[in-house]
Amino acid sequence: MAQSKTILVLNGPNLNLLGQREPVVYGSGTLSDVEKLCSDYASDAGYEIDFRQSNSEGELVTWLHEAENGAVGVAFNAGAYTHTSIALHDAVKAISTPVVELHISNVHAREEFRHKSIMASACIGQICGFGTSSYTLALQALIGHIK
Ligand code: DQA
Repeated sequence: MAQSKTILVLNGPNLNLLGQREPVVYGSGTLSDVEKLCSDYASDAGYEIDFRQSNSEGELVTWLHEAENGAVGVAFNAGAYTHTSIALHDAVKAISTPVVELHISNVHAREEFRHKSIMASACIGQICGFGTSSYTLALQALIGHIK
């Protein structure tokens, strides 16, 4: 991660199983499909994507720290850590790089424990409920914010 036109797309736990995981909720596209969607969208807009996934909270924290100097913005699907992680909230607060929270599903229409986002107040905004198009909508919002 080093360039001024790089957007970091971060994916949290279980998103490596996209395509096989609860397809009724998350659709049949894989994480590689999402990566392609993001890099096509970004390159049309003149940006590059650094696309990563981790099941480890600490690794996501470290990558957010790296975004301070390595990315112009972050589109972040933190998965279930969205609802539990003060460490990720603090990491988003600790960097000046803008972060957009995103979710494939409409978390507000699901179980009550998904209604609360610990990260949302640290992010510039939240996009959810549009399937994998939430990723490109998050990139659109981020790029609009950066410009
Ligand atoms: C998710 C929603 C979270 O509640 C869930 O834990 C996920 C995926 C989404 O993209 O809809 O892992 O972030």
